[in-house]
Amino acid sequence: MTQPQRDAFTSTFGVLVATLGSAVGLGNIWKFPSLTGSNGGAGFLLVYLLATLLVGLPVMIVETMLGRAARANAVTTFAQVAPPGQRWWTSIGWMGFAAALLILAFYSEVAGWVYAYIFKAMSGEIATTDPKIAGAVFSALVSDPLSSLVWQWIVLAVTGSIIMLGVAKGIEAVARKLMPLLFILLLVLCARSLTLPGAMPGLSFLFSPDFSKITPAVLLTALGLAFFKLSIGMGTMLTYGSYFRADQNIPLTTARVMLADLSVSLLAGIAIFPAVFAFGFEPAAGPSLVFMTIPAVFTAMPGGTFFMTIFFVLTAIASVGAMLSLLEVPVAILAERYGLGRKRAALYTIFMVALLGAPAALSSSLAADWTVFALKPFDLFDFLSSNILLPLGGILICLFVGWVYGLPELEKQLSNGGKLHNRTLVRTVFFLVRYLTPLSIAAVLLHGLGVF
Ligand code: PHE
Repeated sequence: MTQPQRDAFTSTFGVLVATLGSAVGLGNIWKFPSLTGSNGGAGFLLVYLLATLLVGLPVMIVETMLGRAARANAVTTFAQVAPPGQRWWTSIGWMGFAAALLILAFYSEVAGWVYAYIFKAMSGEIATTDPKIAGAVFSALVSDPLSSLVWQWIVLAVTGSIIMLGVAKGIEAVARKLMPLLFILLLVLCARSLTLPGAMPGLSFLFSPDFSKITPAVLLTALGLAFFKLSIGMGTMLTYGSYFRADQNIPLTTARVMLADLSVSLLAGIAIFPAVFAFGFEPAAGPSLVFMTIPAVFTAMPGGTFFMTIFFVLTAIASVGAMLSLLEVPVAILAERYGLGRKRAALYTIFMVALLGAPAALSSSLAADWTVFALKPFDLFDFLSSNILLPLGGILICLFVGWVYGLPELEKQLSNGGKLHNRTLVRTVFFLVRYLTPLSIAAVLLHGLGVF
């Protein structure tokens, strides 16, 4: 089969930055703190750490490996690497397609709130440490149907235009510039938050676990977050892997991305929880937590308005890197399998996300009663993708590599054809994805859903 000329990342460093750009996003700044707050704090953090190391990293390694081996989108990759007569493995790719759309539907809305908060920061509207005022500003935004929709469309228009510029130019250029700045600003926030009077209870909330709070549902949420954070289980890392260079050290790159990503989340946690307790916010506030607490910390420091604005701008940029990588899954599938051309593939995808995204955007207004299993569209899309589709994708990817793809091929791929001497590492990864990782995901998934 002749492949159309594929775009690729242009340097080893570019690969690292773009992959990091996919991992780091609203997951760190928004989802991690909200979930940690509403699932009891330190216990949740501990499970999340374990899930990232024992489940997340091995899946990330083999998923990236598959993409680089086949150099194709998530569906075509399985069509190529699966033995003849086992086409059903391509359903992993299609599940990824669905998961990408579901995630984008609510992710674009949260990004919309971030864009809106840039202007609220500039105008001084959110310069408050009072939980009541902060909560009212947030509710006013999310319960207004028109502005919810318009902000989401602005986000989609911005990200859509970037993706049409192509992989290397679009993704790399955007991702390369933002990381260090966001990191520094988070450090400043941590310093301020930690020195607030009454900060200590926030630290113990984050770091001293209460094991009674770790229920099966909490386990599943932490596992889902680990998948969401590392952009795995749905073909994003696979698709990015297909743009990796042949000499890229996959285990090393993925481990670095995982560590960097973890540190951004931890910094966000340390910036937020001391302030939550110092100012009397509700740790279990959910999606609004970050939008109330972060402005409060900035308000409590000199130059607050200025830095707050920069912070939301950087978060908006970070969300772009993650959204580009989400869009890349359906766009690559549509472009390569249906010969659509990237521009048209991107347009169709954005259109589908806008359709699916509308109920998510209207979840606190017009669509508030459209509940399934007591979940509003926004929460339903989040639950279905993070807690079901990504872990399921993870299980299937592990089973495929562990039982069909096999050790010799894995070894060849991960050692770059024998150039890297990482035999023990590869064997450990193989053992994990053959037995331990899929079994733990399955156990947590079934247990969390109440099957046993
Ligand atoms: N990892 C991204 C974040 O934390 C979200 C994401 C999930 C991106 C899945 C791609 C695939 O914001």
